[in-house]
Amino acid sequence: MSELSVNHLLGIKYLNESDIQLIFETADHFKEVINRSIKKVPSLRDITIANIFFENSTRTKLSFELAEKRLSADVLNFSASQSSVKKGETLIDTVNNILSMKVDMVVMRHPNPGAGIFLSKHVNASIINAGDGAHEHPTQALLDSFSIRERLGDVAGKNVVIVGDILHSRVALSNIFALKLQGANVKVCGPKTLIPKYIDSLGVEVEMNLRKALEWCDVANMLRIQNERLDISYFPTTREYTQQFGVNKKLLDSLDRDIVIMHPGPINRGVEITSDVADSKQSIILNQVENGVAIRMAVIYLLASKIKK
Ligand code: CP
Repeated sequence: MSELSVNHLLGIKYLNESDIQLIFETADHFKEVINRSIKKVPSLRDITIANIFFENSTRTKLSFELAEKRLSADVLNFSASQSSVKKGETLIDTVNNILSMKVDMVVMRHPNPGAGIFLSKHVNASIINAGDGAHEHPTQALLDSFSIRERLGDVAGKNVVIVGDILHSRVALSNIFALKLQGANVKVCGPKTLIPKYIDSLGVEVEMNLRKALEWCDVANMLRIQNERLDISYFPTTREYTQQFGVNKKLLDSLDRDIVIMHPGPINRGVEITSDVADSKQSIILNQVENGVAIRMAVIYLLASKIKK
């Protein structure tokens, strides 16, 4: 297969295993490109991409922008907080105005779950979901699996635990879909109040005890406590959360083998992981960020190939 089965990247839920392998093989090539002295290819000189962000972002926004520039696309950056959205303009009107300037692709981060799906049905452009509320963050899950594959050789058969606020996490949901598609074994671990009731339907087991989860896994993906999404108290205090679900070096060193530590960022140092874990040899957090550029180049390149047809 040499093309994606989809015209948009709205969620991992809409991809199949072959799509993921194609994205990884394409990202392998682009990773080699961005490690050359000239880190750029002319592939998308005829494509214009708008990055529209209705929520804060460091990694995703910069990584998409860099990926687009490395592919030689023309790039527009739109921040909702400095735009006419503040004057009451609707999402569809805003995007249609941007598209009338001959834009081919929209990368969007939005606080509302399903915003990308909605947009894809109402505008004439390829849409990439850069995170929609507590729903999906597909490029994060792709770069996470790509980083596991890079470190451990394969994703299939690996034991991966996702720790923390599973209920509000788009990273968790997209990772579960991606890992299951590739044949990994997945467990989640966190306060009972932050584990969704439908978790069994995703083919995922729950392990409430962090030590047992870490003893089982090859990879632990530590999620940030997203205070901005917690409308009520889901655990007594941050200190107690850290005592039960935080990973520190003493706990890591007490395991009988080295597990891989991941985190999507931004990190709350001292809450979900301590600094000595985040900065340890077992951590691949900055490799994840590095791989994000190659993965986003691959996704943009493959979707743009479909526009050009
Ligand atoms: N991982 C991630 O989405 O980080 P940002 O919110 O900084 O983009």
